[in-house]
Amino acid sequence: MATETLRDLTFSIEPRSFQFLTGPSGAGKTTLLRLILLSLRPTRGFISLFGRETSTLEKDDITTIRRRIGVVFQDFRLLDHLTTYQNVSLPLLVQGKEESSYRAEVQELLKWVGLGSHINAYPPVLSGGEKQRVAIARALIMRPELLLADEPTGNVDPSMARRLLRLFVELHKSGTSVVIATHDLSLMDQFESAQRLVLGDGRLHIYE
Ligand SMILES: Nc1ncnc2c1ncn2[C@@H]1O[C@H](COP(=O)(O)OP(=O)(O)O)[C@@H](O)[C@H]1O
Ligand SMILES: [Mg+2]
Repeated sequence: MATETLRDLTFSIEPRSFQFLTGPSGAGKTTLLRLILLSLRPTRGFISLFGRETSTLEKDDITTIRRRIGVVFQDFRLLDHLTTYQNVSLPLLVQGKEESSYRAEVQELLKWVGLGSHINAYPPVLSGGEKQRVAIARALIMRPELLLADEPTGNVDPSMARRLLRLFVELHKSGTSVVIATHDLSLMDQFESAQRLVLGDGRLHIYE
């Protein structure tokens, strides 16, 4: 039998909560985020999102559910030939929205993440922390109810990590559920009231 990466996990992400998902490298953090995002299917067990059990959902329903989730991937996944502004606008453009309906909002969001002076810059000239913030803005432009971020401070120095964490905490305070996968203990120490989901040996331990 194949080894199971994760097993016997039971947990819930409450609305408006803030959780760190932690555990050593290879523990299954990214795998768990992909399960929540429905980009991986569990071999056993069930995943309910926004009150709906997901195992029998059709593709269209999955797309609809995914729109309610913002994701910041570990490797950013920005498009290098598009500006910061265009990268963040892309989800809206894909939905067929008129630029006049979102221009001000994209600009405002980029200012909020501290990129007001980099709106027309292309990703290759941005630092790791700047790229990370473009990726965060792109995840937020659809106003997700749940934000998943995979090692968002993995490529930045400690002061940028603190700044990014402040953004996530502010977002959480505005009503979004936030799950941050990280193995950075010093990051977690900066927000001690967050719940910790700790993965190890395929199991999940929850610390309030
Ligand atoms: N697509 C995949 N297929 C099979 N095994 C995978 C896949 N992705 C990751 N794994 C394995 O699953 C385990 C957990 O990996 P991962 O979720 O990336 O851990 P983490 O993000 O905590 O470092 C590792 O043993 C990894 O090698
Ligand atoms: Mg990972």
